[in-house]
Amino acid sequence: MTPGRFITFEGGEGSGKSTQARLLADRLRADGHEVLSTREPGGSAFAEAIREVILGGTLPAHTPISEALLFYAARADHLAATIRPALAAGTWVVCDRFSDSTRVYQGSAGALKSSVIDELEDLVVYPTRPNLTVIVDVPVEIGLARADRRRSTDPADPYERRDFAFHQKLRAGFLDLAMMEPQRCIVVDGTHGEAEVGEAVWTAVQSRLLPRPQ
Ligand SMILES: Nc1ncnc2c1ncn2[C@@H]1O[C@H](COP(=O)(O)OP(=O)(O)OP(=O)(O)O)[C@@H](O)[C@H]1O
Ligand SMILES: [Mg+2]
Repeated sequence: MTPGRFITFEGGEGSGKSTQARLLADRLRADGHEVLSTREPGGSAFAEAIREVILGGTLPAHTPISEALLFYAARADHLAATIRPALAAGTWVVCDRFSDSTRVYQGSAGALKSSVIDELEDLVVYPTRPNLTVIVDVPVEIGLARADRRRSTDPADPYERRDFAFHQKLRAGFLDLAMMEPQRCIVVDGTHGEAEVGEAVWTAVQSRLLPRPQ
C-alpha cells in the first residue's frame, strides 16, 4: 500500500487557508484520491476538546510553554487517532493548520525559543512531517478585513483579537519558514480570487506530489 500524502495549509488570520484546504480536498477527490480533511487545533475527539479550551476565550493567564504543550497534547492525539491511520491506509490528509502555526504563533511571534519547539516536534510529530505545506500569504489588513467580515457568524478567537504588530510578526514568521524549508513549503499569493489561488495550489501539488506517467 502506498502511504497517503500529508498536506498542510498555513498562514495568518483570514488569509484563506480553510477555503483553499476545502478546494484542494475537492480537487484531489475528483482526481480519484481518498482524502481526509482535518484541522488544528482539533481533528480527533480529544483534540477538539482541547480546541474548546484553547480558543474558548476563558483560559486564565498562563505561560507560553503551557500554551504550547496544550497544542502539542492535542497534536499528539490528532496524529495517533486520525492522521497516521489515514496515511497508512493510503488516504491523503489535508490539514487546516499544523505545527508551523505553533512555531509561528508561540515561537517567532510569541515567546518560545525555536529549540523548544524543535524538541516538541521530535517528541510528538516525528516522523510524520507534512509532504507539502502551503502558506497562504496576504497583507495583514486584507486578512483581518476578511476575518472581520466572517465574524457575523463566527466570533473572534483570542489570537484574532491581538494587535496589528502581532499579525505582522505572524506573516513574517510564515514567510521565514518558507525560506528556510523550500523543499517542503510553497507560498501562494492569497490576494487573488479563490479560484485563482486554488489553481496555484493545484499546480504545486501536481508538480511536487503527483508524478506524471513516464
Ligand atoms: N481569495 C479570496 N478572496 C476573497 N475572499 C476570500 C478568499 N479566500 C477566502 N475568502 C473569504 O475570506 C474569509 C476568510 O477565509 P478563510 O476562512 O478561508 O480564511 P482562514 O485563513 O481559514 O481564516 P482563519 O485564520 O480565521 O481560520 C471567508 O469569508 C472567505 O470566504
Ligand atoms: Mg480557517
